[in-house]
Amino acid sequence: MTTQEARLLFPPATDPVVPVELCVVVPTYNERDNIGRLLERLERCLVGVAAFEIIVVDDDSPDRTAAAVRAIAQSRPWVRCLQRIGRRGLSSACIEGMLATSAPCLAVIDADLQHDETLLPRMLELLRRGEADLVVGSRYAESALVPGWDERRWLLSRFATRLGQKLLGVELSDPMSGFFMLRREAFEAVVRRLSGIGFKLLLDILVSAPTPLRVKELAYSFRPREVGASKLDTRVAVDFALMLLDKLTGGLIPARFVLFAVVGAAGLVVHLAVLGFVFRFLGEPFVAGQAAATLVAMSFNYALNNELTYRDRRLRGWRWLEGWGSFVLACGIGALANVGVAAQLHAERTPWLLSALAGVAVGAVWNYVVTALYVWKR
Ligand code: GDD
Ligand code: MN
Repeated sequence: MTTQEARLLFPPATDPVVPVELCVVVPTYNERDNIGRLLERLERCLVGVAAFEIIVVDDDSPDRTAAAVRAIAQSRPWVRCLQRIGRRGLSSACIEGMLATSAPCLAVIDADLQHDETLLPRMLELLRRGEADLVVGSRYAESALVPGWDERRWLLSRFATRLGQKLLGVELSDPMSGFFMLRREAFEAVVRRLSGIGFKLLLDILVSAPTPLRVKELAYSFRPREVGASKLDTRVAVDFALMLLDKLTGGLIPARFVLFAVVGAAGLVVHLAVLGFVFRFLGEPFVAGQAAATLVAMSFNYALNNELTYRDRRLRGWRWLEGWGSFVLACGIGALANVGVAAQLHAERTPWLLSALAGVAVGAVWNYVVTALYVWKR
């Protein structure tokens, strides 16, 4: 349906209607004390834009950020809150926010006031004039500074930037930026190819674009966070590695399966350690050692998968226990399949190592698929 046709079908209530030109998506997790100030600043700097909207995408923050946003939105219809329950993830939050608007220009900005919102009108102007498909707020462009960052954080950020640039061939001074604006057509052309994992949506967009995007960078100084805590942790680094893997293999190897397998390998080490302790050190019967080791290793795998592999759907409270039960059950059946396949192959004179590996592979795939469907179901 064209805009013209839509007007005929749904005549505007009040004439003349000013079409929404810009949507600013703000991802939040525990930003209650920042969001009000950000919305105020956004409104102030966007006075020149005839019609804009702001979509705050909140992942059910325990500090009730969503309720705070809705309270503000009561007097400001251009502010909306998209609250996601049982989900986590900065990139996916931004993607879903951008999918929830009809605006032709889409921006993403952090809620913690670290990005310089006064850049937005200039970003919009560049898109309006058709000088770029995507405008990035860059921390490393010549005049950009990062005050308040310790050396470690700076080096880490530098390293990730270099790695991203090298591996994916992206030529941009700050491909890790979380502050950018792009045209809807550019977003729609790429949205189905995005990994949507972790923090680095911009990089994801840049490397997934079917045709190279015309990119402009605007420098700004990254402000220190005054209130609340950063959500960047080791898991974010894992997410980053997974996204790179996803992009480099063209999505061939599911990122979650890789993590699941790595966790499984770590579980094997745990298993052997417990077995060694119970059987060799304590001198208990082998069966007791093997049983204890299996239970401990399964629980270890479950806990680690819950924190890492399925971090975005992490189970908590009594659902954690419930998930543990399903996991142990699924992996128990997986172990049977493993032994069954290995025994069958071995009986058919397949070399023992090959039989064993085939059994392990079948068990691993079974465990992955079944737990994905029944333990960490969406
Ligand atoms: N909805 C949602 N879900 N929002 C999230 C989540 C999540 O799981 N995790 C973080 N956020 C929100 C935060 O509330 C904040 O508004 C924004 O995303 C950035 O998170 P920070 O925790 O402040 O990250 P940072 O400052 O270390 O890094 C950010 O800024 C860098 C510089 O622009 C990120 O945006 C990086 O991607 C970016 O490179
Ligand atoms: Mn921040």
